[in-house]
Amino acid sequence: MKPLTILSYVLLSSLPTSLAHPGMGETMNQVKRAALASRAEAKQLIGDLKTLKDAQLTSIGKDIKAILLGTKGAESNTIDTSIPPGTVDSAACKADLCCVWKWISYEMTAKFNGTSGRCTKFARGAVRLGFHDAAVWTNTSTSGGADGSILLTNEIDRVDNDGLEAVADVFKAWYNKYNKYGVSMADLIQFGANVATVVCPLGPRIRSFVGRKDNAKAGPTGLLPGVDDSADKLIKLFQLKTIDAHDLVALVGAHTTSQQHFVDTTRDGDPQDSTPGIWDVAFYGQTTGSPPPRVLKFASDIVLSKDSRTKGEWQQFIGGQAHWNEDYAKAYTRLSLLGVNNINDLQECTKVLPPARTSFTSQDQVVLDMWLQGQFDQLNNLVDDAIMLSGVITNPGKKREE
Ligand code: HEM
Repeated sequence: MKPLTILSYVLLSSLPTSLAHPGMGETMNQVKRAALASRAEAKQLIGDLKTLKDAQLTSIGKDIKAILLGTKGAESNTIDTSIPPGTVDSAACKADLCCVWKWISYEMTAKFNGTSGRCTKFARGAVRLGFHDAAVWTNTSTSGGADGSILLTNEIDRVDNDGLEAVADVFKAWYNKYNKYGVSMADLIQFGANVATVVCPLGPRIRSFVGRKDNAKAGPTGLLPGVDDSADKLIKLFQLKTIDAHDLVALVGAHTTSQQHFVDTTRDGDPQDSTPGIWDVAFYGQTTGSPPPRVLKFASDIVLSKDSRTKGEWQQFIGGQAHWNEDYAKAYTRLSLLGVNNINDLQECTKVLPPARTSFTSQDQVVLDMWLQGQFDQLNNLVDDAIMLSGVITNPGKKREE
């Protein structure tokens, strides 16, 4: 393990800070939230939790049940900042369930944290990978879900997964390195999504459970959403996954970090809000508003922002970072457990996640804003790698040619 890798994990808590996104109007929002919650659909249980009685639940089983039912939050600040008890091969490390995950967390943090402080394309890819492994499932599926099959079979070659090739290679290399210590692909992918989320500035620190089983059989096709699907189709598709309209609105907020490549190939690298690589709520407001020209809104996000079943929650998230983080964490916990039938036996390694970055000042936003206005082209790939942007403008006066 390179010292730099550990350093990157430790440094995350000491980046320049100032409150960039205060939770404006939070009190009014709480009132509206209470009203919306009373109209919310009943949350469904999944996997073995559907049949196990309360008396049979482990303490983790009880916590996960409460998270799924919405009565308990899924964020946690429990952190163990100590250096692991030994190298990953040592007897001391092998005796500690979360030790190997700590080493993995160091390695992932280094890959996901950009030198600009934004999270990298690998972080964004890891969140999308977690979604695409888990969401290949419905409540009538006999296989699929968060089972690692996206990288253990040829699922990754499906057109739905265009753009995930690079992050897939990174995860396969991690799997080849850590599988011999008992790490499943299914856990690696979901743990990776949670590390990536918290490495993105302002992202929630989501409780992280391990013990999922791998599946070497490809999941069913046709279960991932399309960017041109109607709101009705999207809401119904996610309902089949036990994800209600409210949770769907929270989950698509992950597009706050995104830079698309395939929706419009002539605009490769254009982001979905003006702050790519930052887990803020700008995405919600900009999807309904008039963002800078380089922001490319997905048709699927636009229809969800307008549908009567989803627009109330969409509006709620516009000024509510804490509210969104809380709801995203719960919704992602559900997503990360779809198709898992041993939830009651899972164990928890949240303590090895890097710290949350609850405030962030982006030093490169001023340059990025010029780029978003189309003032020059050069940043495309550089932003994508979340590399510090200073010094990259060779001809800032040049207008982008359309
Ligand atoms: C309505 C449902 C959804 C649709 C139609 C959708 C569609 C898309 C599309 C078309 C892209 C761009 C791919 C490319 O051109 O490179 C994308 C990117 C992304 N999606 Fe979604 N998505 C949905 C839901 C979700 C959910 C639930 C999550 C996570 C929980 C998620 C996470 C991401 C992330 C992080 C990216 C950015 C990847 C990057 O920057 O490389 N998406 N999504």
